[in-house]
Amino acid sequence: MKRDFLTLADWSPEELTALLDDAVRLKAELRAGQPHRRLAGKSLGMIFEKASTRTRVSFETGMFQLGGHALHLSGRDMQLGRGETLEDTAHVLSRYLDGILIRTFGHTLLERLAAAATIPVINGLTDTYHPCQVITDLFTLRERFGNLSGMRVAFIGDGNNMAHSWLLGAALFGMDFRLATPPDYRPNPLVVARAQQLAAEHGATLSIGDDPVAAVDGVVAVHTDTWVSMGDEASEVERLAAFQPYRVDAALMAHAADGAVFMHCLPAHRGDEVTAELFDSPQSIVFDQAENRLHVQKAILVRLLGQPQA
Ligand code: CP
Ligand code: NVA
Repeated sequence: MKRDFLTLADWSPEELTALLDDAVRLKAELRAGQPHRRLAGKSLGMIFEKASTRTRVSFETGMFQLGGHALHLSGRDMQLGRGETLEDTAHVLSRYLDGILIRTFGHTLLERLAAAATIPVINGLTDTYHPCQVITDLFTLRERFGNLSGMRVAFIGDGNNMAHSWLLGAALFGMDFRLATPPDYRPNPLVVARAQQLAAEHGATLSIGDDPVAAVDGVVAVHTDTWVSMGDEASEVERLAAFQPYRVDAALMAHAADGAVFMHCLPAHRGDEVTAELFDSPQSIVFDQAENRLHVQKAILVRLLGQPQA
C-alpha cells in the first residue's frame, strides 16, 4: 500500500528516526561526491498554489541528485485553476508520476488529493502543517546536540502551521517543547489535543502559553517564523501590532541555555519576528536548516518513491 507524508503523526517515531538516519547518510554521500541515483527513472510532480523558494528548490534538486526528475506545476497554470477537480487531477497524475508534492491552502485539499491518488503524496505546506520543514529542524537539532529525547526547545510567535508541526514533532520525539503565542494567535485546539495525546504516549512535555521569557528559560534552541503567513495578508496590520512583544532578540536569547541557537524556517523579516543583529549572528543556524532541507527531503523521497525498505 502506498504511504503519504501529510503530517508528522502519519509516521511512527521509529520510522521518523530511520528517516533522519537516511538523511545523515545521504548528506555524507553528497559531501563525499558519491553518486546516489536511488530514484533513477522516477518522476515527482510538484503542485504549488503558494510561493516557495526552499521547498521547490530542495525537492527539485533532490530528485535530480537521486537520478529522477521533478516537474514544477503551478496551480494557476493547471486545469485545477479552471475547475478540474482535485480528485480527477490525482487520478490523472497517478497514471504518469511516481509521487506528488503539493503546497496549498486548506489541509483538507491535501487530504482529498492524497485519498484519490494511488501514488505517495507529500505535504509541501498547508495552512495547518509544514512537516517537511519541521522534520528538517529536528534533523538540524539532532546533528548539533544529539539525542532529541528530553531536549528543551521554544517556539515563539504565531500558533501557525509551523507551530502545529512542531507540537506533533516534539511530542513524537519525547521532547520538552514550549510554545509562546499572543492570546489571539494560539494553536488550533484540535492539533493541541492530538499533540498532547502523542506526548503522553512518547514521554514528551508540551507547554503552551503567552509568556516568551518563561518559554525560553533554559532551552537549547529558540525557533520563530513570520508573523504573517501566506494567506494571512488581510490581517497584517493587526498581526504586526499583536506580535510586537514576541520579537526574538538578544535579550530574550539571554534566558536560554549557554550555547543556545536561533532557528527560523525562512523567509525571515528582520526587525519583525527577529532582530537583524540576532538573525545575522553566529547564534543563528538558519542557513544550516535551509541546507538540510535538501538532505532530509531526499530521505523522504527515497522512503516514499524508492524500493520498499527491509
Ligand atoms: N521554509 C520554507 O518552506 O521555505 P519556502 O516557502 O521558500 O519553500
Ligand atoms: N508559516 C509560514 C511558513 C513559510 C515557510 C507560511 O505559511 O507562510
